[in-house]
Amino acid sequence: MRKYENPRLVGENRLPQRAYYIPFATREAALSKDLAHNERYLSLNGQWDFGYFESYEDACLGECTDKIDVPSCWQTAGYGAPQYVNINYPIPLNPPRVPIANPCGVYKRYFDYSGQGRAYLVFEGVSSYIEIEINGKYVGMSKGSHLQAEFDVTDHLRSGKNEIVARVLQWCDGTYLEDQDCFRHSGIFRDVYVLSRPVGHVRDFFIHTDINGTVTLDIDATVKASIIDKNGDTVATIEKNGKARVENPLFWNAEEPNLYTLLIETADECIAKRFGFVKIEVADNAALFINGSPIKIKGVNRHDSDPILGYAVDEAHIWRDLCLMKQFNINAVRTSHYPNHPRLVEMCDELGLYVIDECDLESHGAECIGSREDAANLFSNNPEWADAYLDRMERTLERDKNSPSVIMWSLGNEAQYGENHDKMSEYIRRRDPSRPVHYEGTAFFIVPDYSTKHRVSDTVDIVSRMYTPVEDLIAHGEYKDDPRPYFLCEYAHAMGVGPGSLEDYWAAFYKYPRLIGGCVWEWCDHAVVRDGNYLYGGDSGEYPHDYNFCMDGLVYPDRTPHTGLYNLKQVIRPIRIEATDDPNTFRVRNMMDFTSTDRYDIFWSVRCGEEVLKEGRLDLSIAPHRELECKLNFTIPRITPYPCYIFFEYKTKCATDWCSAGHPMGFDQIELKAATAAAAIAPTAEVSARKCGSRYTVTCFEKEYVINTSNFSIESIRLGGQEQLTAPTRFTLWRAPMDNDRNIKRKWSGRLLRRATFYPEETEYAESAGSVTLSAEGVISAHSRHPLFRARVEYTVTSAGLTVSMKATPAKTDRPRGERSDSELGLILPRLAMEVTLPEEFEQLKYHGLGPRENYVDFAAHAYHGLFSSTVSDQYEPYVRPQECGNHCDVSEIKLTSPKAILSVTLPEGAPRIQFSALHYSIEELDRCEHRHELTTDGKTHILINYRVGGVGSHSCGPLPLPKDRFEDDPFEFSFTLGFCEA
Ligand code: GAL
Ligand code: MG
Repeated sequence: MRKYENPRLVGENRLPQRAYYIPFATREAALSKDLAHNERYLSLNGQWDFGYFESYEDACLGECTDKIDVPSCWQTAGYGAPQYVNINYPIPLNPPRVPIANPCGVYKRYFDYSGQGRAYLVFEGVSSYIEIEINGKYVGMSKGSHLQAEFDVTDHLRSGKNEIVARVLQWCDGTYLEDQDCFRHSGIFRDVYVLSRPVGHVRDFFIHTDINGTVTLDIDATVKASIIDKNGDTVATIEKNGKARVENPLFWNAEEPNLYTLLIETADECIAKRFGFVKIEVADNAALFINGSPIKIKGVNRHDSDPILGYAVDEAHIWRDLCLMKQFNINAVRTSHYPNHPRLVEMCDELGLYVIDECDLESHGAECIGSREDAANLFSNNPEWADAYLDRMERTLERDKNSPSVIMWSLGNEAQYGENHDKMSEYIRRRDPSRPVHYEGTAFFIVPDYSTKHRVSDTVDIVSRMYTPVEDLIAHGEYKDDPRPYFLCEYAHAMGVGPGSLEDYWAAFYKYPRLIGGCVWEWCDHAVVRDGNYLYGGDSGEYPHDYNFCMDGLVYPDRTPHTGLYNLKQVIRPIRIEATDDPNTFRVRNMMDFTSTDRYDIFWSVRCGEEVLKEGRLDLSIAPHRELECKLNFTIPRITPYPCYIFFEYKTKCATDWCSAGHPMGFDQIELKAATAAAAIAPTAEVSARKCGSRYTVTCFEKEYVINTSNFSIESIRLGGQEQLTAPTRFTLWRAPMDNDRNIKRKWSGRLLRRATFYPEETEYAESAGSVTLSAEGVISAHSRHPLFRARVEYTVTSAGLTVSMKATPAKTDRPRGERSDSELGLILPRLAMEVTLPEEFEQLKYHGLGPRENYVDFAAHAYHGLFSSTVSDQYEPYVRPQECGNHCDVSEIKLTSPKAILSVTLPEGAPRIQFSALHYSIEELDRCEHRHELTTDGKTHILINYRVGGVGSHSCGPLPLPKDRFEDDPFEFSFTLGFCEA
């Protein structure tokens, strides 16, 4: 049996996993953490000789004629092709065998060694199998891509020049346990180094703390150890019994990450390890408590991923990710789906982020054989794989066990459920009872009323699920017969525009103690880069692949935030302010778990349109989870041109490691009651109409409108003889499918909605003093299908412009929703809009509505009401796969300006607010292109004036938009006025 096809053989000569640390020679050096000047640490990062071979056999004969950087992934360095695949395995499901045609990278370099004492060679991450030789002698072998492998190489090294050769295989039996949804990269992708250590050194230690101040050090050598606080003062020393006591310790939590340093000294070595006082408990009401306070997990799932580096992200890269998370109110990271870079947990200790530390384990592809039970029998319930499961869990736990940020261990992801999981869990409970265990696979079968199937296995301390719809989540919140917290290890699939419904999720999380929060799927878009363009699955000729399902992050591959990150930030803001019955009194609620509101300045301003009527600053000390009413002194005019709002903004008072002073953390906006002035009435003027065939030409002042009654479109609008439209108007139901429409779009296409529009049946002409009205009765329908709506459309021309109004009722029935059959019920519809197409010179944009960022009915928390100035170019949001974007809800006025003319869209009195987008791309172009670099503009400005755009949801993997946010076939009416004038 080949070593790399034997699941019982998890490594050879690999040392048992120990806690992660880097030893130094002196106390000062250890405290400085300066690796570059650490004589005990010999980095083997850098350029190595490299050979890329088709198989292991070829590799054994071949020469290393190329060069490669270590760490790196060979696919991003130009060897082999990147492959993005989600559930399917990249190889036949033939465990434990892997194809003989198994790419093998041979790495070779020389290094000078002059260390004393013992020598240890460490690889922090290699995918998927590595065997090592030093000076021609075999050292050992390891599997487990995202785990540390350490070898004692004392007897292999000689003083002076040494040669190291590492053979790395793309696949091994471990590949069956590493079926994570990401690009499947290979190579030595994390740091490689040699540690020189004195004889009798410490190998492993486990720091246990109690919030009463007791520290217990479980260590395998005789040492001197002391505890240093953040001022550098020694506050306690560890006694012979391994214990120390810190008086009034400052606790660690994600909001206040207080750390102490444990300094371990032996004769000739020093290790400094930061630790914290944290107590994790499940309360009687199933809430999750940290240090006696209930918390909510405001988390994200994070992969080590970069379009250029692949898995080989360095510390600066990770630090940037984590700081960005902090700036956006995120307080937790689930290391999906393997231990991330070993420094990540330490950085989370420092910055204050809870970590759900996940084992490097996923066998999702096994489910392709049929039932989950059968799949479980392949690996999770198969004793042949038990050692591999346990090995992976041990290495996860032992490496990261001293990090206070780790608040939960995760047995892995999507590996079904079996006895091997129970063994992992037993191990954790024996070794580290201070932290709960979660694994989503145990809860796969639960339904919200818990009436069927099994109770969630006792192997987990926390019940967790993915993508639970809000309605079901509430049922889990209400459920009383399971004392364990309910955790959404994944929710809100952030693919493309969205995720929607976050505010609804958080209303439930805040309401029910048992619902302890969740982690959005996922932090970043995954891509590879070619010629400066982002590529996803299928773009490198790989098979099988999962197209753009890897582009589902809150940030673009380069970490530019998506709108979704702004939305999440606002939903999980630290403070919320609400209106009360008294117009000048507001309720301020502290949404944090540990911090007083006095960490933030609360700026407030009363605004009307672009005008600020009054402003001020509040400095409040409200305890966590508490609220306070507070009265502000302001008045607003009785009548205003726009609605008045009070706007509160929360900004950090002080700079931190992750933000500067004055960093915005969220806001609230409350409408103040005032009457808005009625729009000035345009003078009545002579309006006349001529008919020619099916066309009417309507003239008013210097404007001329041509309306084609055969399809009821406005074909032409001339201002002083100048044509303003570049295409006839049209009604459309279509949107360029968002990623969150990727499932429902099959229905949409099946129903031919792409070209659905208004079909007039009867038209009528009417005139009165100062106005001409053309109206049509007809249907809104797709080809070859029964109509969706009956509708009446009216075009009324007055001196104010052309008013469009539409009134629609479901076409097939008068029966209320609920009594209608499926076929009578329409669909969840994309949108209903009139498209107005202008020349691209209409570039300057001003609107009153929700802005400034794009927003949709269930994806609007990040937006606020105001009068916004922008450009049409800036309205486009560059999702890597183009899709519907740039919408604004709750709009009462739009103005588009070219050097020559202005189009204003206004609402007739009493008309409901509209939604709009203005882009230089047509729906068809956004729909056609698969990558943003393929988009071409047609030299036009496309304005979509919507009655409604259906919500976003997160149906790319999770639920549809909530019923309240859908656009279905309910009766509706809307109207607006198009007015052109000279600029
Ligand atoms: C989950 C899985 C993730 C990812 C996500 C979809 O089922 O755990 O790894 O595949 O779905 O993007
Ligand atoms: Mg999966």
